[in-house]
Amino acid sequence: MDFDRTVTTFTEFFRERGHHLVVGDSLIPPPGDPVLFTTSGMHPLTRYLVGEPHPSGRRLVNRQRCLRTTDLDEVGDHTHLTVFQMLGSWSLGDYPGPQSLHWGFELLRDGYGISPDRLHATVFGGNDEVGPDTGPIRTWEELGVPVEPTRDENWWSNGETGPCGPDSEIFVWTGESPPTGTPTSDPRWVELWNHVMMRYRRHDDGSLHPLGPNRLDTGLGLERLLMVLQGKRSVFDCDVFEPWVRTVGDLWDLDGTSLRVTCDHLRSSIVVIGDGIRPSNTGRGYVLRRLLRRVLTILWRDDPTRSLIDLPSEPIDRTFHQFLQPDPGDVRDVLRGEEERFRSLLHRGRRVLSRRRTDEPLTEDDYRYLHDTHGLPRELVIDLRSERDATHVRNSSGDRA
Ligand code: ALA
Repeated sequence: MDFDRTVTTFTEFFRERGHHLVVGDSLIPPPGDPVLFTTSGMHPLTRYLVGEPHPSGRRLVNRQRCLRTTDLDEVGDHTHLTVFQMLGSWSLGDYPGPQSLHWGFELLRDGYGISPDRLHATVFGGNDEVGPDTGPIRTWEELGVPVEPTRDENWWSNGETGPCGPDSEIFVWTGESPPTGTPTSDPRWVELWNHVMMRYRRHDDGSLHPLGPNRLDTGLGLERLLMVLQGKRSVFDCDVFEPWVRTVGDLWDLDGTSLRVTCDHLRSSIVVIGDGIRPSNTGRGYVLRRLLRRVLTILWRDDPTRSLIDLPSEPIDRTFHQFLQPDPGDVRDVLRGEEERFRSLLHRGRRVLSRRRTDEPLTEDDYRYLHDTHGLPRELVIDLRSERDATHVRNSSGDRA
């Protein structure tokens, strides 16, 4: 099942059950939202989840692009991405959690053809504040899906304050041999779909207040679903990544983690640029800058003449198409500008650091001086110091040989 059919199967399933299809928003969350980027499909809908009536009714379905920097260190494995799409369904005070889980099970089994034998659920088993979520536990038992109760893993919140509640996650088995444990102990269970019972709202003083019944927020990671439906072992092997992996792999002869990180960060940067963000030293622009610098660091490790300008148009165009974004027209200028800036910063950094006569660790004053006087960010200085140390080790082992 390809990208388009996978999306349509989801939206049509929920439309047939009375949900109105709403258009996903940009990566920039609405004013007042505590997060820098939209990290989940519910962000643009927060005000409706906490009580304001939605103009399209009480049942919604959509596809939302999301960006998560919390997973940045995990990107490069087979299931984590910086920018991804989330398929979502919502009940704004309409139907209860068990109904949502029943539909989730039906769609995975009948719409997507995933055998129920491959499913496992987790549910909120209770903590000091809130008791176990008994409705979902019963639902999974009725459906014959094994269920594991947890504490913190099954409590969803949108930051320190705001709407929150117990959730139930659906995992799919991706291993080649039988499981040796449950979702919390065997990582071959891959989390696919989260159903949040948004029953509470946390206030500034930490107190928890009921939000009202039947407020549900569900999110299904599209790229992970494609990986499962297309029988791949990695999100990078499914059709949405094909143009990236092929063109980037051919152009720069990368493989393994370097290839995956480069594809993820470039695709993410394109979507971020498509939403109007430009590299800068703060906020969202700084996230974009870090993504591009991480790519350039990988590319220049083996060959400092590599350039983002050589990137073909195909993966960029396909990405805008898949994320339903208009092409802003200046993507190549942004890439070129950032590449030139980083190249000259590296050049300056190497020169400044080579003038230091000592190998002593840098102090906070040193970092401040390098930043304020030479414009060198701390993480760049750390990278350049490790690069220099590695060169020293190579040279001195060469001397001995
Ligand atoms: N908001 C829920 C999540 O992001 C669905 O997991």
